[in-house]
Formats: sequence, C-alpha cells, structure tokens
Amino acid sequence: MRPWLLLPPKFAHDVTPYALPFISFLHGKKTPEWNSFTWRDMTFKNPLGIAGGVDKNAEHLDDWWKLGCGFVEVGTVTPQSQRANPGKIMDRDLRLRAMWNKMGFPSHGADEVFYNLAFYAPNYRTPIFVNIGKNRNTPNSEAVKDYLSLVDTFRPFADAFVVNISSPNTQGLRDLQKKENLGALLSPILDRVSHFEPTPVLVKLSPDMGEEGLAEAISNCADLGVDGFVLTNTTLSRPAGCHFPAEGGLSGAPLKQLSQRALQIAVQTLGKKREGKLLVSAGGILSPEDVFERLQMGADLVQIYSALVFHGPGFFHDVARSRTK
Ligand SMILES: Cc1cc2nc3c(=O)[nH]c(=O)nc-3n(C[C@H](O)[C@H](O)[C@H](O)COP(=O)(O)O)c2cc1C
Repeated sequence: MRPWLLLPPKFAHDVTPYALPFISFLHGKKTPEWNSFTWRDMTFKNPLGIAGGVDKNAEHLDDWWKLGCGFVEVGTVTPQSQRANPGKIMDRDLRLRAMWNKMGFPSHGADEVFYNLAFYAPNYRTPIFVNIGKNRNTPNSEAVKDYLSLVDTFRPFADAFVVNISSPNTQGLRDLQKKENLGALLSPILDRVSHFEPTPVLVKLSPDMGEEGLAEAISNCADLGVDGFVLTNTTLSRPAGCHFPAEGGLSGAPLKQLSQRALQIAVQTLGKKREGKLLVSAGGILSPEDVFERLQMGADLVQIYSALVFHGPGFFHDVARSRTK
C-alpha cells in the first residue's frame, strides 16, 4: 500500500517534508551495515544513498540517516537562492514507473544550506556529498566563479563535491561537459580543493551524450584529475508511449538501461586508471535486485530518487533486509 501515489505528484512532493520526521521515527534504527567500505577517510556503512535533488537544501539529514542511508548527497545548491522554473515542474507515470521534472535548481542558496549543514554536523552519521550548480542567470563563461564560491562555502562540511554539469533544466549547462569547456571549469575547482586536506571532486554526467561522447567526457575528466563520477543525471530521451513534454528530464525505469550502459562505459574507459576513483550509479534503481546488480557491475555506491516514490522511504532498510535473507 503506497497511499502517497494517490496524491497529485507536486502535492505529494510538497507534503513529504512534513511526513518525513514521522516516517523516519518509525524506521529509526541504526544505519544498516552491509558492503561497508572506506574511501578517502570516509566510512560507508552501506553503499546506498539519496541522489541529488532529493534534499536540495539539506533540511532532513536526520531523517535520511534514520531511514538507513549509507551516505547522503544534498543539493543541487546554487550560490544565490532561486525559484524553480515557471509552470509545471514535475510529474510521474505509474505505468512506466517514470518521474519527469523540469525544476531548474530551485535552491534556498548557499548561505541557508551552509547553516542547515552546520546544524546537523554534531549528529554526523554518514558521509555527506554536496552537489553544486550554477545559478541560471550566470553565463557559462562565468560558471566557474559560481562553482568556486560554493566550494569555498561548503569545504567545512562536504566530504565530497559533486559538480553538476548535466541537468537538462538549466539552459546551456550541459555544454560544460564539452572538452573545450571542461578544463576551464574543473581545473580551478580541483586546484582550490587541493589545498590543506583535499576534498574529493566527483562529476555528474548526462546519459544523453552517446557512448563515444560519454567515454570521451569520462576520459577527459579523469585526465584532469577528478576523483570519481555520478552516472547519471536524468535523460531527455523518451520511451514509446510516454506522455511527458519533450523538455525536462526523465528518471526511473526508462533511464535504467542508459544508466547501466554509462556505468559499463565508465568501468571500461577508466580501466587501470580506475584505482582510487569512485563510481556512483544512479538511474532506474527501483528494487533491491537493481541495487545489487549495479554493485556487481562495478559501482562503488548507488543512489536513488524515483525508488523513494515508487517503492517508498523503507527502501534503504528493505535493501538491507533482503541482503541478509
Ligand atoms: C524531481 C527531481 C529533481 C531532481 N533534482 C536534481 C538536482 O537538483 N540535482 C541533481 O544532480 N540531480 C537531480 N535529479 C536527478 C537525480 O539525482 C537522479 O540522477 C535521477 O533522478 C535518476 O535516478 P532515479 O532513476 O533513481 O530517479 C532530480 C530528479 C528528480 C526526479
């Protein structure tokens, strides 16, 4: 029984924050331990976390921890607060088990997210990744300034940064994935985090570049020295029978194959250079079996968004339980 699926999608999305403390209280056990591992001074009690966009403003860390996350990714955070895109911004298709969104980085801005993270810091239970993005009014030629200001703000709390250059909902953002733009964006970020105790930098990529394009982007990022990848963001492609508009990103079951392929390409492309790099798989992971499959395919960590809608917030503990069956 998933009563929230009877509610209109945007309404369900807006009331979830009020229900979360109650739901997490019911689940409030210890962080389940399975496939635990350590990477760059971070200990992951399990490899399953929330994807970018689930907790954009870092408002519910305690709840995600109680629900059994092995790590959390907050954001996408932008330097200045900004509203969502106008008009309809999200929908879902129960038959296709798909989510559609055109949010465009609604964010309370770096200052507020900083204070939220400071509030949760004393209760620290898992690694925290901070997903960073540029404001929509910042031209790509100045994007690096936005990303650097976010790195400076969040260094005290970020165990790792996820540089988001793959949302389809901020005009021109995906152009930052092109070879001619990658160095100008990533080198200053990597340089900035390398002082004192280096914070790992991961890059979140799009599934819509084609196999060669994706391999090239992975290879270029690796050459620049990034520490890992989140694969993937939402897709602009549409399966047959899909009623969503052409613009906006699709998640859930229709993204599964693309996301799996992206993981395979990353494993192949990195080859021996894989050592020390973190591969995080996201996209179409809707069941415990999907989680284990991605890990078998070579993912170090796995993230979910749509599963929270189609399976529910018990997903993390359900995966842990099916592990021990
Ligand atoms: C409503 C919604 C909002 C999202 N917002 C973000 C975001 O702010 N930043 C980001 O990197 N990814 C965002 N994503 C993409 C997810 O992080 C994830 O990459 C994608 O949904 C695929 O995972 P899934 O199939 O488990 O949903 C969003 C996805 C959805 C459905």
